[in-house]
Amino acid sequence: MRLPVRAQFAIAQALVLVTAFALFTMMAAHEQRRWVVRRDVEMLERMARLAELEVAAEARRGPLDAPAAALAAGRALRARVTLIDSAGWVVGDTDVPRPRLAAVENHRERPEVRAALAGRPQWAVRRSRTVGIDLLYVAVPARIPGVAVVRVAERLTAIARLDASLLALSLAAAAISLLVGFTLIYWVTGRQVARIRALGTVASRIGKGEAVRARELPADELGRLGRELNQMAAELRERLGAIERERDEREQILAHMRDGVALIDEAGRILRANRSLAEMFEVPLPPESGTPFQEFARAPELEELVHAARSRGRSVEADLRLWSPRPRPVRATATPLAAGEGAVLLVLHDLSEAEELIRMRQDFVANVSHELRTPLTSIRGYAETLLGGALDDTERRADFVRTIHQQADRLHALVEDLLSLAQLERPGARPRVESIDLRELVQRQAAAFRHRAERAGLVLEIAPGGPVTLEADRALLEQAVANLIDNAVKYTERGRVRVSLGSDEARVWCEVEDTGPGIPPEDLPRVFERFYRVDKARSREKGGTGLGLSIVKHAVALHGGQVLVRSRPGQGSTFRFEIPRG
Ligand SMILES: Nc1ncnc2c1ncn2[C@@H]1O[C@H](COP(=O)(O)OP(=O)(O)O)[C@@H](O)[C@H]1O
Ligand SMILES: [Mg+2]
Repeated sequence: MRLPVRAQFAIAQALVLVTAFALFTMMAAHEQRRWVVRRDVEMLERMARLAELEVAAEARRGPLDAPAAALAAGRALRARVTLIDSAGWVVGDTDVPRPRLAAVENHRERPEVRAALAGRPQWAVRRSRTVGIDLLYVAVPARIPGVAVVRVAERLTAIARLDASLLALSLAAAAISLLVGFTLIYWVTGRQVARIRALGTVASRIGKGEAVRARELPADELGRLGRELNQMAAELRERLGAIERERDEREQILAHMRDGVALIDEAGRILRANRSLAEMFEVPLPPESGTPFQEFARAPELEELVHAARSRGRSVEADLRLWSPRPRPVRATATPLAAGEGAVLLVLHDLSEAEELIRMRQDFVANVSHELRTPLTSIRGYAETLLGGALDDTERRADFVRTIHQQADRLHALVEDLLSLAQLERPGARPRVESIDLRELVQRQAAAFRHRAERAGLVLEIAPGGPVTLEADRALLEQAVANLIDNAVKYTERGRVRVSLGSDEARVWCEVEDTGPGIPPEDLPRVFERFYRVDKARSREKGGTGLGLSIVKHAVALHGGQVLVRSRPGQGSTFRFEIPRG
């Protein structure tokens, strides 16, 4: 792992500080040395001139004893004094005893000596070969017989001491700077590193979908980064939300489709399927992704269809019958998906209802034909009989003609009812609403049946009460009421037929109650079907068409209402319809 940010900063700062202090110490030492040396040079030069005066005075007193003079001058000045002749030979030296003078090497080539020999005072710093320490030498030219140069030397101990104290000071300052700098850097970087870490944590939590916010203050670069992170998170949430909504909508569409839908991959596995598909195969839940279609459906025709769609690269459709779990006609459409890498979308449309509709229509046509044939056969038969000679049969011909008339009436009634029913079942049929009083309407209809009822020995009554008004189609309600009263009068042998009606806030109702034979419970649910009769022979004999209750049901249904029946064999029947207000 790389060094942590904090350590990197600390190391960089330490390097900078150490370099700065080293440079400063070097420069300061150099400057100090220059300064000290220049001051010492001046002093030594003055001392050298003094020594020269001294030695010159000695020389004027008599022949010069150079070693003694050097010793005396050195003692007086508390310095090392060297006397050198014009050839560069040392003739006297404070630190060199007389016997060893001859062994001292020639000083002609020493820089300060060479300059003094040339007439210029000069200084030099050198490690003395004679005494082994750093010495400052200053040489001045002398006009003394036997001595051409007076040189004074002094140890540079001051410089060494100065260097040492400067170094100590520098080191101390460096140490303090390092400590303070390090603490500061450690604290500052610590804070920033903590902020960076916090931003990192926020970023990874945003990645996990948590609703967290990064700190945006203080508003420096890290604050800005925090703000950008928050913006990014908001945008991310928005986009995710949009994607989720879109997905939910798709799911909803798929879930609520009545057609069974399955997406099948190249290997024949179901990728997606909806609830309707599960319902078609009578399993509680749609198959899980990855279920082999073969195992789920067990319908080789469907597999072939999927295969055909894939190999032809276009939509293929077929009407087939699924046998398992129970026979069911379906229209199957298999469509290869362009972007699906061999995936095929299979849609199964249930044709049971359509088939049922076709069957019902066929039944209806058969029924109608049958109903028409009976009176027609009868009419033709009697007409033929009349033409075949019965016209002369004065006793029976009236009977025959009456029967023909009766059958023609039946035909007429049948055609009327069929027409009514066709009107009611016409797609888009709407009641023509007007404001009507149902009581008045019932009274009128009852009046039309009163004569028949009385002839049959029945009491036809209407329960007392005030007007019952509603918005409805008069003709349709007349049909409904007439059919109910007709049935009650027709099928009741003795007793009474009672019509009652009423209303509350929500609806209007009308009930026709009789004391007739009643309807067996097993027939009750079917009496509203077209051509359904409980007792065929009896209905025919009474001139029924078997369509009356169908008409009632449709007429009431067009008003948004419903027809109910209560009946028990031998105890009469009650038919009731209810129509909601508004
Ligand atoms: N009030 C009633 N009492 C007994 N049976 C009834 C009554 N109303 C209807 N039905 C039975 O319901 C059948 C269907 O009635 P409807 O559709 O009016 O046909 P229909 O032309 O036979 O009257 C009738 O054939 C009859 O068997
Ligand atoms: Mg009827």
